[in-house]
Amino acid sequence: MRVMGIESSCDETAVAMVEESSTSSVRVLCSVISTQIPLHRQYGGVIPELASRNHSGRLPQLMREALQKSGCTVNQVDAFAATGGPGLAAALLVGHTAAKAMALAARKPFISVNHLEGHLLSPFLQREDARISDVPVPKPHLSLVVSGGHSLLLHVHGLGNYELLGRSQDDAAGEAYDKVAKMLDLPYPGGPEIDKLAERGDDSRFELPRPMVHSNNFDFSFSGLKTAVLYLLPKITPNGNPHELTEQALCDLCAGVRAAITETLVRKAQLALRYTGQHTLAVSGGVSCNSALRRELAAMCADENVELILPRPELTTDNAAMIAYAGLLHARAEESSEFTTPVDPNLTLAGYVTRG
Ligand code: KG4
Ligand code: ZN
Repeated sequence: MRVMGIESSCDETAVAMVEESSTSSVRVLCSVISTQIPLHRQYGGVIPELASRNHSGRLPQLMREALQKSGCTVNQVDAFAATGGPGLAAALLVGHTAAKAMALAARKPFISVNHLEGHLLSPFLQREDARISDVPVPKPHLSLVVSGGHSLLLHVHGLGNYELLGRSQDDAAGEAYDKVAKMLDLPYPGGPEIDKLAERGDDSRFELPRPMVHSNNFDFSFSGLKTAVLYLLPKITPNGNPHELTEQALCDLCAGVRAAITETLVRKAQLALRYTGQHTLAVSGGVSCNSALRRELAAMCADENVELILPRPELTTDNAAMIAYAGLLHARAEESSEFTTPVDPNLTLAGYVTRG
């Protein structure tokens, strides 16, 4: 079975093709991405109208490229999947409508994919240690999804059976990185910039809060971090101007921010592992690319005797391979979507969640 996936929920236009072989292993035939980051960077964040206009412009060529690179014709594709939400409405509409049109023309199923489910499943696609996915249908595990819009801890019982254990009460982890970066006048998106600078910093120089880290639940809170940085800046630099910070102070501050976010995520994941008794932790979303988070999670999982599954770095941020993969898993479970399915900018995994 071959599935084409399209992702256009935010600032990446992406198309991918995945294939399941007769031995049930899944591989990515091709994954192409056209990023709009340089376009939005000049505004310090994503401009929805610009995003949707650029998706429309780029998508047809990317679809042709994906077919060419995977060496197949439209008629050799068995299903067409696209992100249906959450995301920017006008941006989602571009990819969703294109996938519907292709499916309708080729008389093949259309599958509307929840972007969060795409992230959640991504660690199981082309694992770092194998070229071919060895687990087509994910086994039960604990999942930590940390993206720009969401921070979720889920107990995954099987495909489509996701129990929500905890979520961020305010800003998502990626959002916290991006907002602090904006205060420091670092380029958008802030996460990778802070990660890079933090590698040269001392994370103990500035003490930053770790809200809810000792609370006995699985929820997070990251908005206090930007307030703490806001109050700290005038104390360590004239007029709170981040450009007046010495290079070392900037690196130390970034290291402090990264340590606060990392420690919170790792402790909550540890708590949830003990609570669920699961022996596998899968981590996904843009923030799962963070080098400190990868290191600290590996150390915690070694202590807990838990298997850690991380996506390949190129599958952490938005991509279409994860959407095609989610589509393929649903298609092989004989699930598809109506052509009338609308996009939903606020789509949650709530439909699947068995416990709030
Ligand atoms: O999953 P994603 O591409 O988009 C959403 O679905 O939101 O995640 C984007 C987020 C951004 O907030 C970005 O700053 C963050 O992931 N990010 C990182 C790193 N790379 C991307 N955050 C921390 N460290 C990184 N290395
Ligand atoms: Zn995403």
